[in-house]
Amino acid sequence: MEMIYLGENCAIILAAGDGKRMKSTLPKVLNEVLFEPMLEWVLLACENSGLEKLCVVAGYEHEVVEKYLGGRCDIALQLERKGTAHAVMQAEKFLNENSNTCDNVLILCGDAPFMNEETITNALNLHTECDNDVTVITAIIDNPSGYGRIVKDADKISAIVEQKDASESQLLIKEVNSGAYWFKISTLLSILDEFESDNSQNEFYLTDAISIILNRGGNAGAFTADDPKIILGANDKRALYNLHKIASDEVINKHFDNGVEFLSLDGVIIGRNVKIGANAKIHAGTIIKGDSIIGEDSVIGPNTVIDNCIVGNRSILNSVQAYNSTISSDVKIGPFVHIRPNSEIKSGVKIGDFVEVKNSTIEEDTSIAHLTYVGDSDVGKKVNFGCGCVTVNYDGSKKSRTIIKDRAFIGCNTNLIAPVTIGEGAYTAAGSTITKDVPDHALGIERGTQTNKEGYALRKLKK
Ligand code: UD1
Ligand code: CA
Repeated sequence: MEMIYLGENCAIILAAGDGKRMKSTLPKVLNEVLFEPMLEWVLLACENSGLEKLCVVAGYEHEVVEKYLGGRCDIALQLERKGTAHAVMQAEKFLNENSNTCDNVLILCGDAPFMNEETITNALNLHTECDNDVTVITAIIDNPSGYGRIVKDADKISAIVEQKDASESQLLIKEVNSGAYWFKISTLLSILDEFESDNSQNEFYLTDAISIILNRGGNAGAFTADDPKIILGANDKRALYNLHKIASDEVINKHFDNGVEFLSLDGVIIGRNVKIGANAKIHAGTIIKGDSIIGEDSVIGPNTVIDNCIVGNRSILNSVQAYNSTISSDVKIGPFVHIRPNSEIKSGVKIGDFVEVKNSTIEEDTSIAHLTYVGDSDVGKKVNFGCGCVTVNYDGSKKSRTIIKDRAFIGCNTNLIAPVTIGEGAYTAAGSTITKDVPDHALGIERGTQTNKEGYALRKLKK
């Protein structure tokens, strides 16, 4: 597809609905499909189409929508929800402000996440080529129930009729309204006070724009999207799951094409921005999200969550939870390991069962095999941690760092009370609580002297 620059046009996203049937305290459009709010999908489709001026019409829990948007685009408030045309009327100021620089405005539903760049761009091409005042984006589907039907007269759109207002013959029509339209801004502004609410739902229907424009002698057209998925929305959690499943299957298919191997898809969910190298193997119960990148020939899972991490080639992560961290190539982690944010695990490192690493750098070929906490630490190369070591990084008021130099050997059950430095090649004796730096190549030992009470157990038995 040839990309055209849509910057001289703008868009309004209708997002005031409450989504009662979602039974969620969130505004409907913030319910998520594949880890991203439906509104995010729509915003990205607009932004990726080159639309720069965007306005979201918010209503139900609008503060939450505003907070989510964080100044990313304009907001218009629709405090009473009186229909889709009424929602557009609330954005009149936005339309006026952009009427000098933009020719056309795209109106979209914030709860139809699969609207895409191709449809937006191709519909605009038709809209401008035919010099339409309005071009409605439609799809042809087998089960049109619930959608507005596209009524045509000699192949030209003559009206959109809502399900509740449709005659029996109109109900059979399979071409339906996606709820997205391109309008000439000047035309839309000039008809805003012509909508009426004399229909079965007593709402101001944006769909009436077709007949209003045709009655004035204007041009109306319909663009049928190639991919009927663009009309899909969700009113309840079941429909939301359906969208999630569609998005998820599409992502997994892309990875199949790229040569990623899935041993089972049970519980496997992969976000749409995730990149996975060829011949990586993904086991059951693996969730990979955010901007994660997984290298070639890596083996991920089972039962692993990777959120916003880079993982190199040939690394193995089994039953790991890893967040906002970098894991290099040829690393072996798991089972039951938590890699918390801001950690960097270099190549050749081995991290075994019940280990937590947080905000730490672990250099090449270091081994942290069992039951250990490494937090706020800079650990060198070829360091060996015995079982059950703890970097004591928090004294109740402040966090401090632990520095462990190359080839140090941390004995089992060592506590390293930060701030503290263990020198290069130095040892700590098992069971020591180390509060002072250990120089290079020294042994740090901190233990009581053992005394044995001869016959103690036998004396107890006689009592
Ligand atoms: C609308 C269309 C229908 C189309 C369908 C596609 C009308 C009258 N009907 O119906 O032809 O097939 O979308 O999904 O337009 N909204 C507001 N304020 C309101 C009402 C709605 O912001 O007062 C927003 C909703 O949050 C939603 C979008 O507009 O994002 C569509 O509203 P919805 O109530 O779902 O319209 P439908 O009845 O589905
Ligand atoms: Ca809808």
